[in-house]
Amino acid sequence: MRTRVVMITGCSGEIGQALVADFAERPGYELLTLDLKPLPAELEGRSRHIVGDILDDALLGRIVTEYEIHTIFHLAALLSARGEFTPELAHRVNVEGTLRLLKLAAEQSEWQGRPVRFIFPSSIAAYGMPDPATKARDSRVREWDWNQPQTMYGCNKLYGELLGAYYSTNYRQLAAERPVMLDFRSLRFPGLISAYTVPSGGTSDYAPEMLHAAAQGKPYQCFVRPDTRIPFMVMPDAVKSLMQVAAVDHGSLSRLVYNVTSFSLSAAEIREIVLEAFPDADITFEPDVRRQGIVDSWPADLNDDPARRDWDWKPEYDARRAFGDYLIPNIRQRYC
Ligand SMILES: NC(=O)c1ccc[n+]([C@@H]2O[C@H](COP(=O)([O-])OP(=O)(O)OC[C@H]3O[C@@H](n4cnc5c(N)ncnc54)[C@H](O)[C@@H]3O)[C@@H](O)[C@H]2O)c1
Repeated sequence: MRTRVVMITGCSGEIGQALVADFAERPGYELLTLDLKPLPAELEGRSRHIVGDILDDALLGRIVTEYEIHTIFHLAALLSARGEFTPELAHRVNVEGTLRLLKLAAEQSEWQGRPVRFIFPSSIAAYGMPDPATKARDSRVREWDWNQPQTMYGCNKLYGELLGAYYSTNYRQLAAERPVMLDFRSLRFPGLISAYTVPSGGTSDYAPEMLHAAAQGKPYQCFVRPDTRIPFMVMPDAVKSLMQVAAVDHGSLSRLVYNVTSFSLSAAEIREIVLEAFPDADITFEPDVRRQGIVDSWPADLNDDPARRDWDWKPEYDARRAFGDYLIPNIRQRYC
């Protein structure tokens, strides 16, 4: 008998840790987790964890034969900033890795005779605003607007969405018998901020870095201009949206890819909020032309009306609650 599991790749990263912790609160789930790194000590024992590479075909082959996987949260990736330093590696992990996981899900769907749910976190990096005037004018972008990413990571995410659509609607479309196809669902996330983990490798990291530095009494040089505006969401809402989209009936979904967001702030507004909580914080602006260019290509806000309409998406944390109830108290406690 194969063990029935929910599989999470990239479980040792920022979202993965929060997702594993959330699953641990819910009875009835057996988790199988896979990451290049071990799970952090506080999450040990919460899942059957494998330290390994999503590009390792032999490992994935073993997993297919040992487990019955009903849902996959495929989080493993190289993020935007790292991706620009090693674009070919980013392509291997983000595209070839995603392809391997989709194939694994396709094989499992066929073997189980029912669609495996495949949850794929995409990103605002899938958008590419051509210039500041367009970014200012077209501020709440819809899923089908401006899909012209300017980073390797953004290209990878957009193509990952397309591959998911292919595997869930047209996979092996000329075969004599139509296979049972997987059930692909993707969320385009804004920049995420966690009170418990410090990000690395993303280009929206200036917001969480500002907060974590202020709480530790360290000076911080923000790498974007004060007027730079992108959307954000705190980690509990990211996990809530992943759980919600994974649980909703297929019939309620009108699309495969949904924007989700909470609030949109400029870097100057984030600095002001941080200074209210940490009046001695030393936050200056030292824009880095290259990283600035990437953030300027991301939209100022996301239109998440389809998610709100189809599956009642609603964030718990607006900007006031995100900073006042979640980020500032927890980050203060973390470093005190
Ligand atoms: N954090 C954000 O702001 C944000 C925003 C939008 C989308 N996302 C997406 O959400 C997902 C998770 O993001 P995160 O912030 O937790 O990232 P993260 O960098 O914190 O975690 C990624 C994890 O993937 C693992 N990993 C990388 N390559 C691997 C490989 N070859 N095999 C196995 N594991 C591998 C890493 O070890 C790491 O633990 C990613 O797909 C990311 O693109 C994140």
